[in-house]
Amino acid sequence: MPKFHLPKCSPKNSGRKLIPKWKLAISIFFGVLGIALVLALMYFGWLKKKKKRTEPASSSKDDSSLNLSYGILLKATNGFSSSNLIGVGGFGSVYKGVLDENGTVIAVKVLNLMLHGTMKSFVTECEALRNVRHRNLLKVLTVCSGIDYGGNEFKALVYEFMVNGSLEGWLHPSQSLATVDGNAQKLSLIQRINISIDVASALDYLHNHLQSPIIHCDLKPSNVLLDAEMVGHGVDFGLAKVVLESTDDSKAKMSSAGLRGTVGYAPPEYGMECVVSREGDVYSYGILLLEMFTGVSPTNEMFRENLNLNKFVKEALPEQLLEITDPLLLQEMESHIGTARGDAACECLEMVYTIGVACSVEARRERMNITKVAAQLHFIRDKLRAAGLQG
Ligand SMILES: *[C@@H]1O[C@H](CO)[C@@H](O)[C@H](O)[C@H]1NC(C)=O
Ligand SMILES: *[C@@H]1O[C@H](CO)[C@@H](O)[C@H](O)[C@H]1NC(C)=O
Ligand SMILES: *[C@@H]1O[C@H](CO)[C@@H](O)[C@H](O)[C@H]1NC(C)=O
Ligand SMILES: *[C@@H]1O[C@H](CO)[C@@H](O)[C@H](O)[C@H]1NC(C)=O
Ligand SMILES: *[C@@H]1O[C@H](CO)[C@@H](O)[C@H](O)[C@H]1NC(C)=O
Repeated sequence: MPKFHLPKCSPKNSGRKLIPKWKLAISIFFGVLGIALVLALMYFGWLKKKKKRTEPASSSKDDSSLNLSYGILLKATNGFSSSNLIGVGGFGSVYKGVLDENGTVIAVKVLNLMLHGTMKSFVTECEALRNVRHRNLLKVLTVCSGIDYGGNEFKALVYEFMVNGSLEGWLHPSQSLATVDGNAQKLSLIQRINISIDVASALDYLHNHLQSPIIHCDLKPSNVLLDAEMVGHGVDFGLAKVVLESTDDSKAKMSSAGLRGTVGYAPPEYGMECVVSREGDVYSYGILLLEMFTGVSPTNEMFRENLNLNKFVKEALPEQLLEITDPLLLQEMESHIGTARGDAACECLEMVYTIGVACSVEARRERMNITKVAAQLHFIRDKLRAAGLQG
């Protein structure tokens, strides 16, 4: 503009002004892009976390090719008919089912979502079983989560089916809810030893061989299932506690509303402190072991006030060894009495009782270590085998 007599605009000058503007535009562009990218990453991370939280067992679903919908389970269990009902537990009912495609027999635990705490128990069980793989723990085939034909929420856990029912049914045939063919048969000494090794191995695995130990919290005969080879499998992790970050004393806080196992099998300290521990599981194991060989349930009416299964066995040892032993087991032992086999059997029985008593002592810190229990039971089995007791 000549009328203002200003110096001419040099192209050099304008260039110098232009470059910063252009640079600014680029840096703003990349800045915004960077922020958008970070936000996007955070969003996807959150989505992934959320998905993980709402579908706790998605990983176990990936492992198997099973994809079962409500409709398939309805068909497999005859419409969840009462003739397929094999058990009623704390949080739902268990049905036997057969898959059409290849005849695989399954057990379906349908959760009663109306009950308070069911959802928590479902998530706990899925969490607990996600990374768990052991021959003595029941395998979850898949988790089914959806809507039933009535439009209600439907959640079920699908397991492999255990043909020989629960240990409870074998120990107390008349009281069992699940009636399995051949249940009138009794467990032999070596079978009982085998099952006690199975349960101890499963506990040892859960307590000492996982990155985050798992406390089962509800060990009892009805939670031990037997397959066709009479191998024991631990089940029902609905009350289990995963001890995160493996704290020093392996204690886990129990929620105040949490259930505390089953009367008779829950250790005395669960009634006082609000902590669960590996030693608590060992107590339940000790009671289970004593029940397996005496045939006496810890909830038997003779146990009142100062007597419990632990004291009952402890006071009977060693003289009244046979008097406290399960009559069904005695029938088998009678044929060996007075022989070397009989002596070996009695010796082993006494060792088993000693282990059971040492596991179920009242003082938490004095209870036996489950690793040691499993090792000693293996030793006992070898001893019985060496004596020729195989059946
Ligand atoms: C049945 O089919 C499922 C997958 O569809 C498979 O995982 C399972 O092993 C099969 N079972 C038998 C007994 O063939
Ligand atoms: C499972 O089956 C349902 C319907 O039968 C289907 O919609 C769904 O995509 C399947 N899921 C997987 C993971 O295959
Ligand atoms: C006990 O377990 C051992 C090892 O698994 C097995 O070889 C044996 O057949 C079992 N005995 C009985 C009677 O089940
Ligand atoms: C376990 O169940 C299978 C299949 O039903 C049966 O053949 C077997 O005899 C049972 N085991 C015992 C010890 O009864
Ligand atoms: C039991 O013993 C094993 C091996 O000796 C050990 O790793 C584990 O920490 C012990 N468990 C408890 C509860 O002391």
